[in-house]
Amino acid sequence: MKKITIQEMPKHLGETVKIGAWLANKRSSGKIAFLQLRDGSGFVQGVVVKADDEDMFLTAKGLHQETSMYIIGEVTEDSRSSFGYELQVKGIEVIAEATDYPITPKEHGTEFLMDHRHLWLRSKKQHANMKVRNEVIRATYEFLNDRGFTKIDSPILTASSPEGTSELFHTKYFDQDAFLSQSGQLYLEAGAMALGNVFSFGPTFRAEKSKTRRHLIEFWMLEFEMAFVEQDESLEMQEQYLTYVVQSALKNCKLELEVLGRDLSKLEKIQGEFPRISYDDAITFLNEQGFDDIKWGDDFGSPHETAIANHYDLPVFIKNYPTAIKPFYMQAHPDRDDVVLCADLIAPEGYGEIIGGSERVWDYDLLKARIAEHGLDPEAYAWYLDLRKYGSVPHSGFGLGLERTVAWITGSEHVRETIPFPRLLNRIYP
Ligand code: 4AD
Ligand code: MG
Repeated sequence: MKKITIQEMPKHLGETVKIGAWLANKRSSGKIAFLQLRDGSGFVQGVVVKADDEDMFLTAKGLHQETSMYIIGEVTEDSRSSFGYELQVKGIEVIAEATDYPITPKEHGTEFLMDHRHLWLRSKKQHANMKVRNEVIRATYEFLNDRGFTKIDSPILTASSPEGTSELFHTKYFDQDAFLSQSGQLYLEAGAMALGNVFSFGPTFRAEKSKTRRHLIEFWMLEFEMAFVEQDESLEMQEQYLTYVVQSALKNCKLELEVLGRDLSKLEKIQGEFPRISYDDAITFLNEQGFDDIKWGDDFGSPHETAIANHYDLPVFIKNYPTAIKPFYMQAHPDRDDVVLCADLIAPEGYGEIIGGSERVWDYDLLKARIAEHGLDPEAYAWYLDLRKYGSVPHSGFGLGLERTVAWITGSEHVRETIPFPRLLNRIYP
């Protein structure tokens, strides 16, 4: 008999197959038991009829949640379920019992669920979140490979701090000081000068004392860096990329988005072009909307970002922030020295900034001055300055926060549900 996964069931309609599964839930009457089965690839209902086999029916009725088993059954159609198939059970072979599984189908508090994250991952919504996360990663690689990008793996242990020194995790590197990477960007810039269009995907670390639904201490970032590309061209790439990822999730994660109760109309309208406003206009807009807690020169807080993106009900680029509130590497505006050539992409519905990007300073002297102004150690950046010494070119790039993007696509309340094992301000367990 063929051993298959739940995901493969549609290809085996009418056949009797074997599936390794766990019991997610069950209900039964005197004559029939319905087993909610999961095998990691999906969820399916198994139907056990007493009249078919009384012993098997008794076994089914006695199964506890999360007991593992091999199930033999015939694949039939089931038009009432979204999956569209069910299993007419013909045999149950218990592998290992599970008693007193702590996460029952009833509601639990967040702290309890977070303490049991290693088990919580098995539940249907968390399973759906992980599948969407995987789809975003898969679609990203597909998008980039189709366009000839080369993946550059940047180091995790570094001596540089692209995003400012206040949020660094320090560690010892034998007898030297080192930091955990905040961003692979500076290394990607070296990569771009060697390989043209490059990207990286990896964990990044921010020792930010922020406890919001958007902040993780360890998060995964997708970074693009492109040689001979100016900021406006980079914005077009961001629009194409995000559209590709969202449309891929809609196409390939239908069941998961349904499990999560996502309003799909919000995603269907992501079709390639996002509004662009300047930082100056964003401040004016907010002041007109009655936000009197913000003035030119301030960074936006989450209520500000939410008000701007909700106004358009689309992701919005906010362009050209004040030089003083952005990192040292951003290219100066050609006509103004108070703003830089950058943009943050703000997602609607309160998800906040999902992409940060800019054109990079490519003039040697300006970059050297910026490094000094920011109080950075020029010796640690000598290699980065070298990139401006030998055939410097305009180049731009950006970083997309994977968890914030997945939270937006799935409609999750908090980024902690979009990463398998979140590291939060007060949590490093499990
Ligand atoms: O805006 P950030 O800090 O940009 C950079 O690191 C650039 N060096 C990227 C580049 O140009 N290559 O971070 C980029 C994105 C943010 O827009 C946000 O989505 C996400 O990373 N991010 C976080 N996500 C979760 N938790 C945090 N603490 C985050 N900090 C940033
Ligand atoms: Mg940013």
